[in-house]
Amino acid sequence: MIILGLSGALNHDASAALLIDGEIVAAAEEERFIRDKHAKNRMPLNAARFCLEFAGIGARDVDVVAFPYAPIGLATPARWHYARRHWYAPDRALDALFNGNRRYRRNRGRVLVMGTALGIDWTRTEFVPVEHHLAHASSAYHLSGFEERTAILGVDGKGEYATTFFGYGEGGKIHKIKELYDPDSISGVYGAMTEYLGFEMLDGEYKVMGMAPYGDPNRHDLSRLFRRRSRGEVEVDTRYVNTVGLRRYRAEGVGFYFSQKLVDWLGPRRVDESIDEPFVDYAASLQRLFEDTCLQLVDAHLGDILADTGKLAFAGGGALNVKLNQRLVARADVQELFVQPAAGDSGTALGAATYVAAGRGDKLSRMRHAYLGPAFSTDECLDALRAIGEPLEFARLDDVPRDTARILAAGNPVAWFQGRMEFGPRALGARSILGCPSAAGIADRINAQIKFRERWRPFCPSVLDRVAPQIIQSQHPAPFMTITFDVAESWKARIPEVVHRDGTARVQVVDEASNPRYYALLEHLEALTGDAVVLNTSLNRQGEPIVCTPTDALAMFIGSDLEYLVMEDLLVTKRR
Ligand SMILES: [Fe+2]
Repeated sequence: MIILGLSGALNHDASAALLIDGEIVAAAEEERFIRDKHAKNRMPLNAARFCLEFAGIGARDVDVVAFPYAPIGLATPARWHYARRHWYAPDRALDALFNGNRRYRRNRGRVLVMGTALGIDWTRTEFVPVEHHLAHASSAYHLSGFEERTAILGVDGKGEYATTFFGYGEGGKIHKIKELYDPDSISGVYGAMTEYLGFEMLDGEYKVMGMAPYGDPNRHDLSRLFRRRSRGEVEVDTRYVNTVGLRRYRAEGVGFYFSQKLVDWLGPRRVDESIDEPFVDYAASLQRLFEDTCLQLVDAHLGDILADTGKLAFAGGGALNVKLNQRLVARADVQELFVQPAAGDSGTALGAATYVAAGRGDKLSRMRHAYLGPAFSTDECLDALRAIGEPLEFARLDDVPRDTARILAAGNPVAWFQGRMEFGPRALGARSILGCPSAAGIADRINAQIKFRERWRPFCPSVLDRVAPQIIQSQHPAPFMTITFDVAESWKARIPEVVHRDGTARVQVVDEASNPRYYALLEHLEALTGDAVVLNTSLNRQGEPIVCTPTDALAMFIGSDLEYLVMEDLLVTKRR
């Protein structure tokens, strides 16, 4: 069965994923093709085209288009909950009751139009809507490879109405245990506070998480953001956050997801680049509140299953909170946590597809890598180089991993463009900027050459699989940079540039089968420096998506002060 999953239901993070007989053939985010981060208000036309072309099939061959947004009936509590909790914005409350699937219908229309543009014949191809949180759940559970009964957690801003999902998977089927509904969204609280802390919601959450270790979580008690947090229930206080309508705080014509009352309580929102008090302390308190609330809910709804099998699959934007994931892994009742690399909304394209595939009997297996996007040959890179006509020099390398390791060991950052682009927000050694983490000052050097990120944000390491357990003091799988671990004392001084302020690192453990060239690079680096670790950050400039094509890579390279770009078999440098 050929299933094309599409996301973009919530007007951000449009993406496409193609499954053929249960195998993920291709997946990519639309932002990479249109060069617009999060592809807001866009449908994944280019991403879908890529998937079909990569598979060598036509749009007419697609059996099912799966979409992660479904109609929600009045018989479920979702719309009633929404209406009751939005009494202060009666237009929205009434709309949820009387016209509660308007957004679904609009989405369906957009998919049909996009499908037609793609060449899909809707008389032959079936359109299947999948509830948003079931798509998230499936993207984690069906790709975890877990055979046992598996606890499933979904933490997200909002799908149709559900914001948070608790369930389990067994024998390939997903069962709901409990959902929370809008406005009672833990991720929503994090998003609202992200706005208050001066970042963009749905983008800056990881910056808040990076800021948190600089603050003191005990200095401010933010627990009043929730009216209630007990016995598996959560009620957000919408007088402060997750606010809509007239309650919104407004500044310069923009309405925020928090209220004037929050500003009266905590002071003016952060508007500059500083990481000073009280904002760092708010970030620290928020992060702790988020973790504690999620863990309490896991206890209440998933504790029994975890006690039984210890397997947990986690998806939704909240699953990109690597610190929460560290605490989940640290639980005595969790043996293994699986977080799919595209845990946010882009991953719902994959999740909708896997949900339909599993329901129709396709066999799904564990997702072992995220290299699902386009790849380019050395000849294609040469064509791009010639077309760009900038003063660049290039040479073919004899041994790409060895030669690159030498440049890194000499203390230079290297832009690294190799193989198929990653699916999901993390660069995992296909579209990366690399550095040698024992080279003093390498992080500052990268920041200076790219000028793209806040100095206080941590860089992350890719680590050779046979060395990783010594560094992270754990055998837990970590292929996707979705979990932080405490770095062993003996390693902190060896790789200081990739250890965060709180002594943790968000590692990617690299195995040879998934990325042989990256693996070989790490082995060469180990031979030169003694450490099989490389600093790995994404190949992009601030505010831009990760590069996709050789032309994107060259444009980014030229627009930065980077000196070395290794693109497939070529070393590109700037003429002095
Ligand atoms: Fe979502």
